[in-house]
Amino acid sequence: MNPLLIHCGFRLLSPALSRMNPETAHKLTIQILKRLPQKTPQNQNPLSQKLLNLTFPNPLGIAAGFDKNAETLNGIFQLNFGFAEIGTITPKPQMGNPRPRIFRLPKHQAVINRMGFPNDGMEKIRERLVKTQPPQSIIGVNIGANAESANMEDKIADYEKTLHAFANHASYIAVNVSSPNTKGLRNLQRPDNLAKLLNRLNAIRQSRVPLLLKISPDLSDQELQEIARLALEKKLDGIIATNTTIKREGLVDGIHAEETGGLSGKPLASLANQTIRKFYQMTNGAIPIIGVGGIASAEEAYEKIRAGASLLQIYTALVYDGPRIVSAILDGLEALLKKDGYRHISEAIGADHRPKGEKERRRHAARHLPQPNMARKPSWRARRIAPFPFSPHQLKILK
Ligand SMILES: Cc1cc2nc3c(=O)[nH]c(=O)nc-3n(C[C@H](O)[C@H](O)[C@H](O)COP(=O)(O)O)c2cc1C
Repeated sequence: MNPLLIHCGFRLLSPALSRMNPETAHKLTIQILKRLPQKTPQNQNPLSQKLLNLTFPNPLGIAAGFDKNAETLNGIFQLNFGFAEIGTITPKPQMGNPRPRIFRLPKHQAVINRMGFPNDGMEKIRERLVKTQPPQSIIGVNIGANAESANMEDKIADYEKTLHAFANHASYIAVNVSSPNTKGLRNLQRPDNLAKLLNRLNAIRQSRVPLLLKISPDLSDQELQEIARLALEKKLDGIIATNTTIKREGLVDGIHAEETGGLSGKPLASLANQTIRKFYQMTNGAIPIIGVGGIASAEEAYEKIRAGASLLQIYTALVYDGPRIVSAILDGLEALLKKDGYRHISEAIGADHRPKGEKERRRHAARHLPQPNMARKPSWRARRIAPFPFSPHQLKILK
């Protein structure tokens, strides 16, 4: 289906959707997307990359929480996403927290949610995934623990069960230890608990499905440093930075600002960017980062790439801007790369960490040097007059 038609459809519906209860609006969006036909993802060349042993047609994915139950994968790829992350999925089905549990903060282009992992459970979702996964699509599976699994041991066992269920069906597994809406879940980010969890998951990861860890934006530098150390030691394949924040700095939207839950969208962007930047530095760029949190434009996407993210995800921007945001970000990203003289996205990843301007200066110089096959042969006169490769002036500088 023509993306323009999808965009026009959502534009017509948008005023009604934004007046609806956020959860009803989300359900309706899922129902519409479910009806869209299949589409094979197209490689968008300067943006297509091989990472985690997968070929990503473009770097922009839909973040976890949007399609928790793998109900609308065809629709997601119709919108031009390069990959999708389903979940969070728990071993047993569960209802999540009582409603209302999603709140819009339009002044901030933000959302607060305390969903608490409502999902159909791993068996049913796996069945659906196997039946409906579009060919060649990249689907990450985000896994978590049931609310009733109160102690650390039970929680770790839940991750083992879900990893086991999806190891042969997922393109990658995202281990969600950062949702603020399941009691005690974030304690799994503590070094002793995290080491235990990663050891246990590594032990049952026979199929070598890539394992990524989704972290919180609310970690102290010391906590992040410990996670970076463990990520290297336990050979994690990637990090997803970040989940929602429990901080409320700078919020003036009086109605919902004090609701309990995780804040996403614009106010999260700088916290997420700082986490990406620090993690990239702490690991010397050795571990791929999926950057997520407050992206709503190509410029914001590019900022995360330059800070160290190799891939990106969005969720809240879809609520406010509709599906047109996907192509707008991808087209804008290509233009920004070109403007800075990059031929491929991989050249821009972590660019902010390299000596300022050095790469750009070299690239600029390279562009203005004659190409080897175009270099003009010096004339016989020049050859006679300048027997040395350097002029006296250049020799003076070299001395
Ligand atoms: C309504 C809602 C539900 C979410 N559910 C999940 C979830 O189940 N698992 C998860 O890892 N992240 C979940 N997230 C967090 C997003 O995946 C993402 O990390 C966060 O929203 C920041 O990105 P954004 O600012 O582009 O929305 C949810 C976010 C929202 C808004």
